[in-house]
Amino acid sequence: MKRIASLFILLSLTGWTSTSAQTYRFDHGPYLQELTNTGVTFVFTTSEKGISWIELKDNNGKITSHYDVKNGLRNAYTTFNTIRVEELLPNTRYQYRMISKQIADFQPYKVTFGDSITSQWYEFSTWDPKTERCSFIALSDMHQDHDKLAQLLNLADVQSADIVFYVGDMMNYYDNETVPFQSFIDTSVSLFATERPFVLVRGNHETRGNKAREYNRYVPKSDGKYYGAYRIGDVMFVIMDCGEDKPDDFWVYAGLTDFDGYRKEQAEWFSKIIQSKEYKTARWHIVMNHFPPISHLEEGHPERHGVQHMLDLFLPLYRQAKIDLMISGHNHKYEFMSPEEFEEIGFPVIINSTESVARVDIDGKKMKVKVEDRSGNTLKTFTVEK
Ligand SMILES: [Fe+2]
Repeated sequence: MKRIASLFILLSLTGWTSTSAQTYRFDHGPYLQELTNTGVTFVFTTSEKGISWIELKDNNGKITSHYDVKNGLRNAYTTFNTIRVEELLPNTRYQYRMISKQIADFQPYKVTFGDSITSQWYEFSTWDPKTERCSFIALSDMHQDHDKLAQLLNLADVQSADIVFYVGDMMNYYDNETVPFQSFIDTSVSLFATERPFVLVRGNHETRGNKAREYNRYVPKSDGKYYGAYRIGDVMFVIMDCGEDKPDDFWVYAGLTDFDGYRKEQAEWFSKIIQSKEYKTARWHIVMNHFPPISHLEEGHPERHGVQHMLDLFLPLYRQAKIDLMISGHNHKYEFMSPEEFEEIGFPVIINSTESVARVDIDGKKMKVKVEDRSGNTLKTFTVEK
């Protein structure tokens, strides 16, 4: 009896009998967002509210701690963590791990902490601003089928890609905290996203549901926008945010959208970015847009509106932008638009289906493109040389 009592005391001291020790855990992530030459954002969640931070280890083994600090307060008493780290060295490998302390009770003058947890070490590298190589994968329209997503990512050899672009409609709509995780983020984490980033290009379905206005917490960006330009070495990626397909006054949007105004805002932005030094000095220009540039629907069809509106706004700009490749989705049917056939567009466009994946390998003056379907059939390969 005495031995049992002392064992109980020992277990209590080591925390083994604590229920919360077993339940407090990292729930989702970590995954990388907005990786640049000198910065990165870590996103992860915990099962209960706490204070969390990132430990970063450099090449020399020096460890620094990083919190999400806003207006002097470390973000705390939260389960959702978004931690941005800046002033890193370019083209440098780092290790990182998550640390979290549960906050059991948060009174104005007394904070009671629960259990502490620490993750394994993960690794990532900042981009090399001088690199002439970039391998990326682009797919879209998974509509929450995470098994299919995993299959297509593996088919395109995600382990050897630098970055993945999700070109819209990865979900049907967003009305629940777990939908983005279950749809595609958890799968991304298990396959690559702990050490290489993905970029979410919104489709029309990402704008739907009563939580759509909070969606950017999952894909945080320093400027808070979904659209933007993103440069990796010699490649400039342009991310468009197409909005809804039907007109803003269509009954189903209930007067809650202004995508016509938003698309005009983006055209204004695009007209400036293509004149920027950052854009002009990049050898390759790749555009990601959920909407294909041309709609095959008949004139007057409500679902034609968004695509046509974008074409009207962007076509004069596309001609100045020297675009090498556009990747789209939306139609749920694979198509390749060649610049010869679609002369008015003037650059190749891959329209992925719900079953296809594009893999692009850029090396110096050569860009190799391959599109495969879910069964591994090659739908398209071509090489562009400059
Ligand atoms: Fe779509």
